[in-house]
Amino acid sequence: QDDKDLKPRPPVVTVMGHVDHGKTRLLDTIRRSNVIEGEAGGITQRIGAYQVSVTLEGEQRKITFLDTPGHEAFTAMRARGAELTDVAILVVAADDGVMPQTVEAINHAQAAHVPIVVAVNKIDKEGANPDKVRGQLTEFGLVPEEYGGDTMFVDISAKQGTNVDKLLEAVLLTADAELDLRANPDMDARGATIEARLDKGRGAVATVLVQSGTLHVGDSIVAGTSYGRVRAMLDENGKQMKTAGPSCPVQVLGLTSVPTAGDLFLVAGDDRAARQIAEKRQATERAAQLAKRRK
Ligand code: GTP
Ligand code: NA
Ligand code: MG
Repeated sequence: QDDKDLKPRPPVVTVMGHVDHGKTRLLDTIRRSNVIEGEAGGITQRIGAYQVSVTLEGEQRKITFLDTPGHEAFTAMRARGAELTDVAILVVAADDGVMPQTVEAINHAQAAHVPIVVAVNKIDKEGANPDKVRGQLTEFGLVPEEYGGDTMFVDISAKQGTNVDKLLEAVLLTADAELDLRANPDMDARGATIEARLDKGRGAVATVLVQSGTLHVGDSIVAGTSYGRVRAMLDENGKQMKTAGPSCPVQVLGLTSVPTAGDLFLVAGDDRAARQIAEKRQATERAAQLAKRRK
């Protein structure tokens, strides 16, 4: 693959941290204030991921958020082979400080070589001590820039929206400094399933993240042991999409069964090829299950 075919793509971000430190609140605040506007009349829905628009140094940039917070989701997806996250936001409540799941989250991110941006949250609360959090995290190799390290810390209030824009800038600056986020959009799409379910009216509905290439309506795809032809694609605003490029999350209709979160997907030559790949995988999976039962 030629270097000149690679185009910049938005970073994909996961929010991690200890229970009740504010992961969901932060994702909600970011989503409400920054989600890229859809067409009028579009119904905003949770699809497991969304993109926000950020202006950095006069340039309009995007960030993709996986709306499945916590390192459990992160680990479950990695276990199925999906490496989706480029940057992790570690949320630490400033009144509570580093807790056991904070440490777990750091371990998971570091094992996956994912750079961390620290959001020191709840600075609006009495008893908030952001300096203490900085001191504590230094022990885990997260040394703030202001102490001569290379980790960006941003003091925020997810509740009041304080400094959330600065946090988004820190994500982009960290990605620019530490990662080479490029992909070739001019190929068949590849990526991973973020979440999937069976909808009464619409059949299997899967949210997928395109990691490279471009997914088109009409493509025949295989996701894990599921297959089908992309009948329609929707973004988080319910807006119909014809194509989805690198780092774009999209809801896909048209699979004949429901894939599992973390299942990788690829585009097959045609419907028949997609079915054959899926059936071969189903047979392999059945054989593995049988072998396990015999043991
Ligand atoms: P789990 O999903 O259970 O692990 O929790 P979480 O990390 O998603 O925390 P959540 O967003 O649910 O926040 C926990 C509580 O803290 C809620 O009552 C939030 O309203 C509150 N909270 C979150 N952020 C802030 C903040 O910046 N300031 C204050 N004062 N409260 C906050
Ligand atoms: Na909570
Ligand atoms: Mg939560």
